[in-house]
Amino acid sequence: MTGIPEGSREAGAGRTAAAAALARGLEGVVVAQTRLSKVDGERGELIIGGFPVERLAPQASFEEVLYLLWHDRLPTRAELDALRRRLAAERTLPAATVALLRTAAARRAPAMDALRMAVATLSLSDDHPEDGSRAANLRRASALVGRFPTIVAAYWRLLHGRDPIDPHPRLGHAANFLHMISGEEPPPEVARALETYLNTVVDHGLNASTFTARVIVSTRSDMCSALVGAIGALKGPLHGGAPGPALDMVFEIQARAASSGRALGEEAAAYTRDVLAAGGRLMGFGHRVYKVRDPRAEVLGAAAVRLFQRAGDMRLYDEVRTVEEAVLGVLHEHKPGRRLETNVEFYTALLLHGVGLDSLLFSPTFAVARAGGWTAHVLEQIGEDHLIRPSSVYVGPRARSWVPVERRSSTAPAPVPLEASTQMSAG
Ligand code: ACO
Repeated sequence: MTGIPEGSREAGAGRTAAAAALARGLEGVVVAQTRLSKVDGERGELIIGGFPVERLAPQASFEEVLYLLWHDRLPTRAELDALRRRLAAERTLPAATVALLRTAAARRAPAMDALRMAVATLSLSDDHPEDGSRAANLRRASALVGRFPTIVAAYWRLLHGRDPIDPHPRLGHAANFLHMISGEEPPPEVARALETYLNTVVDHGLNASTFTARVIVSTRSDMCSALVGAIGALKGPLHGGAPGPALDMVFEIQARAASSGRALGEEAAAYTRDVLAAGGRLMGFGHRVYKVRDPRAEVLGAAAVRLFQRAGDMRLYDEVRTVEEAVLGVLHEHKPGRRLETNVEFYTALLLHGVGLDSLLFSPTFAVARAGGWTAHVLEQIGEDHLIRPSSVYVGPRARSWVPVERRSSTAPAPVPLEASTQMSAG
């Protein structure tokens, strides 16, 4: 005798059967065709616009990659120069955007929230929102992508009590971003390292934020709305919010090793065991698609080696490798069969730290890069013009008895009539 009415037991069985048919989290479900990027999670391969990421990212300029994604081919010299000029001309922020950033900074809003709110104001500068032509959408794409770095840099400076720095019209997208943060023109190798990062993460199949952007524009909504939604999706720690915590983890392990006197690897293994015992996750490890090492970790790791070697100090790089090895060892031991490997965020943290960005800027810098992929997917989805609208299985009651408000008790659950449960099991 369990005390569970027969109908409810049937309902439970119905729920289990329904759950079995669910593609939870849309895992493995194909909902779009794209020419933009291909992710092979078993082979650890990423192709962006027809190029393996390891070949494209370290040598292309970000503007070249944008052109590739927006036009499905590499630009000629004249086309590239024209795109660089167009992006540079778009960098200045409207007054309403700067005013919003000042208000957000006064309230110490998280940087991703400030970016989301500021990007939303950019639709105020769209003089012809009714124009749905490809040319108009390309103009919107450059206006949005061109302004992301200005928003992020201006917000970081305002948060630190400093005035924003005007964009530098002759610097490329990556170098100008660093210039607007520090006020100095970055050394070429530092700008190159950031550019390699931007190219590496510009697009990645139907990740959560890109999917969000495509869903929004599939309703024939606009590009600005799609990017605002995408920023919201990117913010979460299971997506673009991981690199800050990944770097914090490395520093915490360093500090623990310094005070315990244990070797760094030993300390990292102990830290990992503690996190797992508490039911936590190691930031920068595991991936929904990659079941082997994320190829972007390789590209960013190699860029970090070049950067740190030029600076003549490999200590942090070596320590990060030690921590990575120890974390993976414990993950493999504790979660056998889960195939948890290093993801892009672990090396994002190292490279962006090496570039001189503070961890508050990591997720917004990811958005600066991914804005390129989002806009390209939005253009592709507009061409597709098909509403994305998946289904769900209803597992709630179907015929609750209506109780007038004055007769409702705050604690007693609403009675579920038997026929409602029976219907549920049929659902
Ligand atoms: N640390 C510890 N355990 C993990 C980790 C991790 N980083 N990642 C997955 N697992 C475990 C889960 O606990 C679960 O174990 P269990 O079944 O024994 O409970 C199992 O692996 C499967 O986990 P899911 O969450 O179902 O796997 P999913 O494919 O949805 O997860 C995700 C992918 C969200 C990225 C996950 O690996 C994670 O949380 N990683 C840490 C955060 C992170 O690094 N995010 C950045 C991802 S890269 C990007 O978005 C650009």
